[in-house]
Amino acid sequence: MKLIKFCTMAVAFTMSAQVIHAQSLPPLKVGMMLPYSGTYAALGNAIDNGFQLYVKELGGKIAGREITYVRVDDESEPSKATDNINKLIKRDNVDVVIGTVHSGVAMAMAKVAKDTGTMLIIPNAGANAITGPLCAKNIFRSSFTNGQPGYAMGEVAAKKGYKTAMTITWNYAAGEESVKGFQEGFEKGGGKVTKMLNLPFPGVEFQALLTEVAAAKPDIVYSFFAGGGAVKFVKDYASAGLNKSIPLVGPGFLTDGTLEGQGEAAQGMLTSLHYGDNLNTKRDNEFRLAYAKQFKLQPDVYAVQGYDAAQMLTIGLVATKGDISKKDEFAKAVVAAKIDSPRGPFTISKAHNPIQDFYLRQVVGKENKVIGIASKSLADSARGCNM
Ligand code: PHB
Repeated sequence: MKLIKFCTMAVAFTMSAQVIHAQSLPPLKVGMMLPYSGTYAALGNAIDNGFQLYVKELGGKIAGREITYVRVDDESEPSKATDNINKLIKRDNVDVVIGTVHSGVAMAMAKVAKDTGTMLIIPNAGANAITGPLCAKNIFRSSFTNGQPGYAMGEVAAKKGYKTAMTITWNYAAGEESVKGFQEGFEKGGGKVTKMLNLPFPGVEFQALLTEVAAAKPDIVYSFFAGGGAVKFVKDYASAGLNKSIPLVGPGFLTDGTLEGQGEAAQGMLTSLHYGDNLNTKRDNEFRLAYAKQFKLQPDVYAVQGYDAAQMLTIGLVATKGDISKKDEFAKAVVAAKIDSPRGPFTISKAHNPIQDFYLRQVVGKENKVIGIASKSLADSARGCNM
């Protein structure tokens, strides 16, 4: 009897000590480094919204810590990236950085995070190097690697019997790696990429490139564009009449969060991505409803990636009882977790990239309808990652 009483007291003491410990921690300062202007502005805002939604669902605290935000508009401008993240870390003393969309900006951020040991969760940018040579125990990605959706789409296009393809994209890491992924999947399945066309980011002067496609007449065109640039490209492609004879395909970024602007021009397009608009799972339906209620907007893949960045942060922080300096414990917990994402459950690889399904989607009205699985449990190669 006495022993039981003693044990109960001991448990009560440990629990109240934990609560006191959690309560005594200062607010967690989160640096949001995202594009809030320019061609990727809608993407940055959706990520920010998704992150906030998850924190709201937790009652505003993660592992007992209040959350405060410091926001920086990175303008998708790689030349300003090192300064911007250094200010967040050194001037604003943030505990963790969430960012960003643009691969060139994210690579500069990853270098600083690796050097300073600052926790970084990347909610979009797919640069291969981040989970390759730049990988680190304090760097995570809640999104994808650029080659993943491209590879999945390449496999599908080859299976559909297309023999020749041309690619068009912006000439920076995301575009280059996306079309390379497509080429790998397509050529493995017996297709041939006959020409790779590009233009500088964030340019939208597509006419000369479309004229070249019209003259060469490949079986299909694969393109990586996103945000405002994707809206304009898909419309220009249709205005040139090309969509009637040469199907335009791409990673899902080409039609995600963009259908309002693209309208008729996008109808019927096939893309591949780790999210879609009609998954119709309990998890996703609840997420979509909560997001629409809070922001008066439909969520897209970027909102999901922001939401899941907050989930990953929470998993790590709960494991370390709110102490973000415990990087080994934080990483161990995130890698061991099954993340309960609106996209479907996924896990995080040793290089800290999602291992996830890629859906095949078709644009019907204002939706990217999931019509199948393009690639199951696709991991990235993590080439060059030594951790
Ligand atoms: C990237 O730069 O990595 C990037 C940007 C926009 C996307 C996808 C990838 O939609």
